[in-house]
Amino acid sequence: MARKLAAGNWKMNGTTAALAEVAALTAAIGDATCEVLLCPPATLISRMADMAQGSHLMVGGQTCHPNGSGAHTGDISAAMLADAGATHVILGHSERRADHGETDEAVAAQAGAAIEAGLIAVICVGETEAERDADVTLNVVSSQLAGSVPEGTDLSHVVIAYEPVWAIGTGRTPTLEQIAEVHDHMRADLAERFGNGAHDIPLLYGGSVKPSNAAEIFAVSNVDGALVGGASLKAADFSGIVSTLSAA
Ligand code: 13P
Repeated sequence: MARKLAAGNWKMNGTTAALAEVAALTAAIGDATCEVLLCPPATLISRMADMAQGSHLMVGGQTCHPNGSGAHTGDISAAMLADAGATHVILGHSERRADHGETDEAVAAQAGAAIEAGLIAVICVGETEAERDADVTLNVVSSQLAGSVPEGTDLSHVVIAYEPVWAIGTGRTPTLEQIAEVHDHMRADLAERFGNGAHDIPLLYGGSVKPSNAAEIFAVSNVDGALVGGASLKAADFSGIVSTLSAA
């Protein structure tokens, strides 16, 4: 059985004032039985990690460079994230793939570096609307999984997030049957490649998850949690999703 994880991705949102939400969140999730993760902008990781100490909240980055150090202006290495207090890092988010041209190969290299640095890699996959319309969703997801999850990896340090690009920030979500189809497919793909250990990999759904639709999504086969964007910015919304997952 995979452990359950509620993960929040703040994307490029939040300055010092937003840390007030962290105090409210840590207070609200005291009795959560699922794992809880927030991935703020890099500028807030260290302070958020300090605030999260002794609480149920874990803190993560939103990307990392495959190299440990060097002449890569503006980039952050996995070891730097770990040093700042991060335990996880989101990799291959569709916004990184689109804005920065990140390929599956690049994501696999980042994931290898993250796992080497002791981080848990939250690797994102998902089809565009055109791919869904062309009925190639399962092929796209399979090929992203095959290319983005590195070989010989420590599976205890891998989380997969299925985020259909057309469902991100749009208020639209796939049907529960569509989510089940993709999640069952991902589990089978991972089991074929990695064997029994694949059953312990948390498979998150992401894209317009909110307190009002979380329960039905968490009841779907092979959904072990969520990667939440907009609704993770407010402690009241995110803690509602955390308690729904705890009860699922
Ligand atoms: P929304 O929850 O805002 O749709 O974003 C999902 C996402 O991209 C999380 O990584």
